[in-house]
Amino acid sequence: MLKENLLQMKSEAEKRIEEAKSVAVIDEIRVEFLGKKGKITEILKGLKDLSVEEKKELGKLANEVKTEMEEKINRAIEVVTEQEIEEKLAKENFDITFPGRECPKGSLHPVTVVQRRAEEIFKGMGFMIADGPEIETDYYNFEMLNIPKDHPARDMQDTYYLSTGNVLRTQTSACQSRFMEKVKPPFRMIAPGRCFRNEAMDASHENTFFQLEGMMVEKDLSIANLVYIMKTLLSEILERDVKVRLRPGFFPFVEPGFELDINCLLCGGTGCPTCKHSGWIELLPCGMVHPNVLRAGGIDPEEYKGFAFGVGLTRLAMMKYGIHDIRELNSGDLRVLNK
Ligand code: DAH
Repeated sequence: MLKENLLQMKSEAEKRIEEAKSVAVIDEIRVEFLGKKGKITEILKGLKDLSVEEKKELGKLANEVKTEMEEKINRAIEVVTEQEIEEKLAKENFDITFPGRECPKGSLHPVTVVQRRAEEIFKGMGFMIADGPEIETDYYNFEMLNIPKDHPARDMQDTYYLSTGNVLRTQTSACQSRFMEKVKPPFRMIAPGRCFRNEAMDASHENTFFQLEGMMVEKDLSIANLVYIMKTLLSEILERDVKVRLRPGFFPFVEPGFELDINCLLCGGTGCPTCKHSGWIELLPCGMVHPNVLRAGGIDPEEYKGFAFGVGLTRLAMMKYGIHDIRELNSGDLRVLNK
């Protein structure tokens, strides 16, 4: 009796599966027969009341029916799904050869472009690329760079002090300090990165900006090497031959320290409002590394000499792309990206 029941159910289910035209209908059949309270499941539950012999025979059969039905259902779902897709495609008249709709392409931020270019140029001259944290200790950001706690030179940088005593780094020069502790001279390194100062914001001041620090330490180095490297960098980045000049400048971590100017790109050096009619634009502070800094980094200043520089990456990007207001760069205004 049970056996006939089972076989009958099997053929009924198979017939309905064959006729089913949608995944939803097949799913209903699955629940009806194989679900928790399904017809086949109920029969399997009833087996426990049978004799051992019957249990053996019917149990085997019931399991076979169940497996077979599951397979049929899965196959049917595959077939029906494919049919459904084909029908949909036929109805929607979808032409896969139709050209796509144009979508505006993204681009890199001007500062990123300039940073990557600078990295390439420096790598070509044998410089390593270093990194450092944006939250920096007072020691690496100031003290190791010959700027002790109460030194008036700290006033040059409006610093964000954190309650932990750390600072938001005001200069990528902090990466020099960390680098000297790790790498033995001779070395050449650059460290591009974001810096922070509590600036009153205007067209040329932002509280968040990018610098690129550089340092070269060797036994025999002079200001001439520094000038050559700077001139190469600027000519390559700005894609023209630039003239440079040095003026004295004060930074506690270099001695002598300089302000490096380039000839004004807008007027070519004849004088205009941008260069305040001087023909020169202040671009890059640099100098020969102070013996105290070398010593703090474990380098003997009698044996090694070094030069260091701090490129204003944000400033450079503004010059290269003719961006007049620094605030545009952090504004999220997409027009800046089309420069
Ligand atoms: N860290 C300095 C600043 O942000 C810039 C600077 C000056 C870096 C002279 C140097 C350097 O490496 O030699 O104002």
